[in-house]
Amino acid sequence: MNDFALDVQDLVKIYPGRGGRTIRAVDGMSFKVRRGSIFGLLGPNGAGKTTLLKTLTTLLEPTSGTARIEGFDVVRHPLEVRRRIALVLQETAVELFLSVRDNLLTYARFRGLRGTRASQRVDELLGRFHLESDAGRKAQDLSGGTRRRVQVAKVFLADTPVVFLDEFSTGMDPHLKRAVMEALAAEAAGGRTIVLTTQVLGEAEELCDDILIMNRGREAARGDLHTLKLLSAGLYEIAVTFDRLPATIEEDIARLSPLRARMNQNTVELAVKAEEAQVLEIVTALAKRGRALHVEVSGASLEDVFVQLTGEPGAASGEEER
Ligand SMILES: Nc1ncnc2c1ncn2[C@@H]1O[C@H](COP(=O)(O)OP(=O)(O)OP(=O)(O)O)[C@@H](O)[C@H]1O
Ligand SMILES: [Mg+2]
Repeated sequence: MNDFALDVQDLVKIYPGRGGRTIRAVDGMSFKVRRGSIFGLLGPNGAGKTTLLKTLTTLLEPTSGTARIEGFDVVRHPLEVRRRIALVLQETAVELFLSVRDNLLTYARFRGLRGTRASQRVDELLGRFHLESDAGRKAQDLSGGTRRRVQVAKVFLADTPVVFLDEFSTGMDPHLKRAVMEALAAEAAGGRTIVLTTQVLGEAEELCDDILIMNRGREAARGDLHTLKLLSAGLYEIAVTFDRLPATIEEDIARLSPLRARMNQNTVELAVKAEEAQVLEIVTALAKRGRALHVEVSGASLEDVFVQLTGEPGAASGEEER
């Protein structure tokens, strides 16, 4: 078998839309993912991430093209594929009437763990995901973030070589998210392949060693963080903190036509595409508008690359038909 856990060729998924029109949710994607990597699928709302994940995990049949997971074709050998994957969907369910512990135990049994091995493993995961104090509570009584943790913990009960996670961190507080991210990194270091989608670019930046940015069903960019950042050479992030925001600041910023701009309290942050010499001019001009306490200039972040490739975050309409 080759080194690739995923091998996708010309994959297309078309949904029927209103009035006989169609939605090309996945519009000809080809890529391979190496074993043991953490592969991040990024893209604005409606980009096709969940649809792609569903076709890769046999929940949806592709309209055309092929996808192989660990060498098995998702259409011709769906059972072989399912044996090798664990999946947490955006809307993944837990058994609402079962306790947290029983949810995990049921899943452990489903995955072939028995007796003390199953309960030991469940206890270990309850600890790892800080769920001990909730172990006896029914899933229906949990907060959204805690329920999400139960769903994600399930993935670690299975020894499947490939794990798919659709927006795993939704509703998790930063502390728990960190615990889950560490657990995921450890699994990948142990040889499992992790495929995740996320809207939180910082997560991808920290966790993924291979990133694919998709937009409108197609690949917009692919590579590791370093490669993606090179795509945005000439992009700068500027942050200026004033003692208080100058009255004309909004117009001042608009005149610079930044790629993105943000204001919070007395700090303005903007990303601009410019020559190095211009950056200094921009910063100086901005700082003169008021009393600048702090100025920071840095290279592009993954967010800048993302915005440049896909338009404003969330700008691509989820409901648009094409
Ligand atoms: N079951 C469906 N029937 C028809 N159209 C659908 C269906 N599911 C998704 N779509 C459409 O397909 C496109 C891609 O949706 P998808 O859910 O895959 O995007 P996504 O990248 O996961 O978005 P999000 O970030 O919001 O989760 C959207 O235009 C969406 O409206
Ligand atoms: Mg989605």
